[in-house]
Amino acid sequence: MKMHTSLGTALLLAFGLNASVAMADATLAASKACMACHGIDNKLVGPAFKDVAAKYAGQADGRDYLLNKVKNGGAGAWGNIPMPGQGHVSDDDIATLVDWILAM
Ligand code: HEC
Repeated sequence: MKMHTSLGTALLLAFGLNASVAMADATLAASKACMACHGIDNKLVGPAFKDVAAKYAGQADGRDYLLNKVKNGGAGAWGNIPMPGQGHVSDDDIATLVDWILAM
């Protein structure tokens, strides 16, 4: 009984922690203006981040490809509108954002 209670507490803590990490990443995405062109669930100028996750999460080189694509920009994966390179965003922040997107 005691063990179940502490397991429940640990799970709650883990979920709470995940939620606040995801929140911090969402704030980062907003502060880097990603959300001006992207929605989580819906297509805006660029694809919905959930669609991006669905397309690349299973690919071995998906993460590396996206790190490079976000930094340098480009077109053709989702349509003819190019994504501008995000060279003003640090490599660390790009990695955080790509991992956040791929986990959706
Ligand atoms: C000015 C609009 C704009 C901004 C700002 C923008 N994007 Fe994009 N993004 C696009 C467009 C358009 C595409 C589709 C490009 C294509 O079809 O190859 C895209 C594609 C992507 C993709 C998928 C790439 C692929 O090849 O499938 C990712 C991941 C992404 N954006 C992440 C980001 C992140 C992270 C930021 C913020 C640092 C950001 N974007 C900011 C317009 C934007």
